[in-house]
Amino acid sequence: MKAAVILGTRPEIIKCAPIIRECQRLRQDYFVLHTGQHYSYNMDKVFFEQLKLPEAKYNLDVGSGLHGKQTGEMLIGIEKVLKQERPDVVLVQGDTNTVLSGAIAAAKLGIKIGHVEAGLRSYDRSMPEEINRVLADHCSDFLFAPTEESMQILIQEGIDRERVFMVGNTVVDAVRQNLKIANTEAQVFNRLGVEAGEYMLATSHRQENVDDKKRYAGIIQGLRRVQNEFGIPLIYPVHPRAKKQLNAFNLDTAGLKLVEPMDYLTFLQLESKAKLVLTDSGGVQEETCILGVPCVTLRDNTERPETLSVGSNILAGTEPPRILQAAKKISAKKAKWTNPFGDGKTGQRIIKVLIDRFS
Ligand code: UD1
Ligand code: UDP
Repeated sequence: MKAAVILGTRPEIIKCAPIIRECQRLRQDYFVLHTGQHYSYNMDKVFFEQLKLPEAKYNLDVGSGLHGKQTGEMLIGIEKVLKQERPDVVLVQGDTNTVLSGAIAAAKLGIKIGHVEAGLRSYDRSMPEEINRVLADHCSDFLFAPTEESMQILIQEGIDRERVFMVGNTVVDAVRQNLKIANTEAQVFNRLGVEAGEYMLATSHRQENVDDKKRYAGIIQGLRRVQNEFGIPLIYPVHPRAKKQLNAFNLDTAGLKLVEPMDYLTFLQLESKAKLVLTDSGGVQEETCILGVPCVTLRDNTERPETLSVGSNILAGTEPPRILQAAKKISAKKAKWTNPFGDGKTGQRIIKVLIDRFS
């Protein structure tokens, strides 16, 4: 069995790492194709270094651009590589433009596709990610659903039950494989001048939030109100898209501790000891749930409803009063919930399914 792992952004590197590690452990024939969707050191290389991943065999260096241009360039580049390498299966993870182009390129060449994190739905078609995940799911041959809910969604959409595999989410593998290392390594608390449990952490980068002045201003004001009410530092590592928009909209961030995007071990350590996390990130909603840290989601919907059901997460939208109310409500709760995303062996399960099928 020969597998191609296609990735291109920060969360894909983190969540594909357990799959790549499993391929290495089994001496499985595989290669990594990086589209170059993310390319800044702190959005890309730092994760390869920290997670001790081999350099990608191919890097298309596509970079940033309008959705059509970015996706189209990836499609052209991926097709060339796949024609040359002819893998048995292409693995894509999540819902980015990299995933869409990887899935389409493979489908057109008749190469089997494995979609990792299949069956997530926000039912909000204004999100580019929703389009990407629906399209990727419907042209995939192996749909690796993280939970019972996501598996049922796929079956209800008419996808053949035999193609769907409930395997958990590789985010649990990543957290378990790296949290211990994170806790022993970094002196992050000293560096940031905070104490464990005595600070909050925020991230926001979603296009429908940060590219919209009213919504992003609401988020920033909401974060400032939360910081003011709780009276402890609020650390906000700013994604490059958000940085550009903060400057363009000239938003006042007084009271917030703005920092550059963090490496994974530092971020994981900070996340695990935060009093509260506020975010619009998909991966961060999952990680806080796994780590037992309360989360406020700065969105109107989520494709991770399991976090709402178990009570680790609350949807707050982008209006400041609602953000404050949600922060107070969730932080008053005891962090006692069960992680719905699996046991940390998802990477192993995915590779086993593929080996059983192809060998
Ligand atoms: C992408 C994904 C999103 C995912 C996020 C993870 C799509 C449609 N979006 O959003 O689902 O949650 O990655 O972080 O695929 N930039 C840099 N350096 C980089 C990368 C980007 O400076 O390494 C800046 C550029 O100005 C660029 C902007 O960030 O225009 C947005 O990058 P892009 O990859 O288009 O989308 P993300 O917002 O990162
Ligand atoms: N993350 C990180 N440094 C940061 C912010 C996030 O390492 O400064 C990690 C985080 O632990 C999670 C992933 O990046 O694993 C989430 O990525 P992002 O929020 O960019 O994308 P999404 O999950 O929303 O697609």
